[in-house]
Amino acid sequence: MPRIIVAIDGYSSCGKSSTAKLVAKQLNYPYIDTGAMYRAVTLYFIQNHISLTNPKEVEQTLAGLQISFRRHAELGRNDTYLNGMNVEDEIRKMYVSERVSEVSAIPEVRHALVAQQQRMGRSRGIVMDGRDIGTVVFPEAELKIFMTANPLIRAQRRQQELMEKGELVGLEQIMENLQMRDHIDTHRSESPLRQAEDAVFIDNSMMTLDEQVELVVRLADEQI
Ligand code: C5P
Repeated sequence: MPRIIVAIDGYSSCGKSSTAKLVAKQLNYPYIDTGAMYRAVTLYFIQNHISLTNPKEVEQTLAGLQISFRRHAELGRNDTYLNGMNVEDEIRKMYVSERVSEVSAIPEVRHALVAQQQRMGRSRGIVMDGRDIGTVVFPEAELKIFMTANPLIRAQRRQQELMEKGELVGLEQIMENLQMRDHIDTHRSESPLRQAEDAVFIDNSMMTLDEQVELVVRLADEQI
């Protein structure tokens, strides 16, 4: 059976990751959350006061960074590791969300992470989500999805997600953060977020998670 690449792109907090994770499970493919990789780099840059305007410093720092994913046996989730440390909870916090799009717009950061993502998908049979997977990382992906949802629904989902992790953030602050990230992500010069011409557009505002997963798995099955 051919192993395909499923690329899921879209705006912040539109439910890409939840769908991608379950689609990967059903297809029995690994799932890669590329947003987590940009978040891990951002966390390191914040913690180590790396100057974002010094390309040499950025490049040297990136060369010494190791990002990987490992299964958390108890919680049954894929955790993000930075230089051997589990940073899964830390990278989801608001202070990282506030800086991540700025860091993700740096060309050196994108080059390093895109290269790693391409290596991860070398043997195909993978579900990857992000902003540029169908346009830059795997333009040859057999299935490309472009997802979105109504901004208020996205903010409410994000608020719920943060609340479940014990971080209480107002809806207004979340909406501002999503708007800011969408703006930077769609306007940056290096691989901006845009829908690939051959991507299937899904507005999931009125869809349940099960419906989204069923739709994407059906589309994937048509390619296998
Ligand atoms: O997916 P998530 O919202 O966690 O991604 C965090 C940020 O990482 C995005 O707002 C975007 O700036 C950046 N990102 C990116 N390219 C990707 C994935 C994420 O620029 N492929």
